[in-house]
Amino acid sequence: RKTTGSNPVQGVKKYINMRPYKKIKMEPISIKQAMDKGKGKVQIRGWIYRERGSSKLKFVVLRDSTDIIQCVIKKDKVGDKLFKIADKLQIEASITLTGTIKEDKRAPTGYEVETDSFEVIGMSDKFPISKDQSREFLDDHRHLWLRSRKMTAMLKIRSTVFAAIHDYFKQQGYYEYHSPIFQAVQCEGGSTLFKVDYFKQKNVFLSQSWQLYAEPAIFSLEKIYTIAPSFRAEKSKTSRHLTEYWHAEMEEAWATFDDIITHGEELLKHIIKKVLKERKSELEILGRDPKTLEPTLKKKFPKMTYTEALKLLDKKCGMKVKWGKDLRTIEEDKLSELYDLPIIITHYPKQVKAFYMKEAPDDKKTVHGVDFIAPEHYGEIIGGSERESDLEALKKRLEEMGEKPDEYEFYLDTRKYGSIPHGGFGMGVERIIAWICKLDSIKDSIPFP
Ligand code: 4AD
Ligand code: MG
Repeated sequence: RKTTGSNPVQGVKKYINMRPYKKIKMEPISIKQAMDKGKGKVQIRGWIYRERGSSKLKFVVLRDSTDIIQCVIKKDKVGDKLFKIADKLQIEASITLTGTIKEDKRAPTGYEVETDSFEVIGMSDKFPISKDQSREFLDDHRHLWLRSRKMTAMLKIRSTVFAAIHDYFKQQGYYEYHSPIFQAVQCEGGSTLFKVDYFKQKNVFLSQSWQLYAEPAIFSLEKIYTIAPSFRAEKSKTSRHLTEYWHAEMEEAWATFDDIITHGEELLKHIIKKVLKERKSELEILGRDPKTLEPTLKKKFPKMTYTEALKLLDKKCGMKVKWGKDLRTIEEDKLSELYDLPIIITHYPKQVKAFYMKEAPDDKKTVHGVDFIAPEHYGEIIGGSERESDLEALKKRLEEMGEKPDEYEFYLDTRKYGSIPHGGFGMGVERIIAWICKLDSIKDSIPFP
């Protein structure tokens, strides 16, 4: 895309080389620190977020990672030469600016800096992104769209979510453990595998899940977790699927099915608690009312079996689902409308779940598998299970699903040498972020989808 005709950067370079600004010796501070200071001399730096002006006066809104602030540049004050440069400044030019900060109710963030001097660090060509641009345009300019207030707020929340996951597991005594990304077996069904050309070797795929190479390690560390990329060749474009997403997974020796479910609920509560504590203003920038997340923190999650969920769909939503069919997006969405917090669904029919899930001892048509469904149509945020620990039962499940047990030899060894009850789950981190930030699409919860 062509952005400019004449080159404004070149045009201003000669002025910059004249260095008409007064070099003021001061340590730059962040915009937030400057506003916390509230008065007196400050030096700040960042990028031009907005600009407007007349022949004597120029208003520049400066942006850094912490906030935005209005700065006024007066011709009288900075002199003709510097004012000429100010006049040429375009959106996204980077500058260092020195001046006096004071409260000003009319300014966008309640403070204004009256400029003594400024220095251009990098001029900007005409920035391609302006107001009201289409989704496609913003996707094409993703590397520049990351600078928007919306993406900045999301990225800060994203960072907090990752920190919360690490906190939770570290506090609970888990070790961080890493599985390979190149894997030789499938974990979650063949249809979404990304096959890799790995030195002509057959059957090498990108990881769909850390799980199968994590289970061997619980015999060493007992309690482990990770946050790592997972890959799914999802062909359909939906608002909740990515081909590359970040997957938070845990696996625990000796854990019961209930233990796994409790960890899922506690982890989600911990994430929401941290975000509400540290990221209220970012939530507001994104238009998410923090109050709508509070039920997740305060109330116990509703829990039901798959069979009970079908009854609820029939009674409350007028939707009939044949027992044995997996819940589709539309049914998950209807169920999520009945609550203002995540719901827990257990005991799915065996045929719709992965081979490694343990048969429910009291209802052999079902498995000890669990899904957590987010409120507000954000879909399945956690999938987990108690694992089948019996070698023969596991082989039988693999065969039923058309897999060759021979290819899973390393995995089956975990059931051969001191098998124990255990379980774990995986959480789609971008689904959590999309829900917390109230995003229209999961694509906006990751820098480069
Ligand atoms: O339910 P899934 O497929 O379960 C597993 O992979 C298990 N091996 C996890 C485990 O027990 N360790 O995936 C887990 C979660 C889903 O609940 C969903 O939140 C997320 O991963 N997920 C996706 N997120 C974004 N884009 C996709 N294409 C996703 N596919 C799954
Ligand atoms: Mg699942």
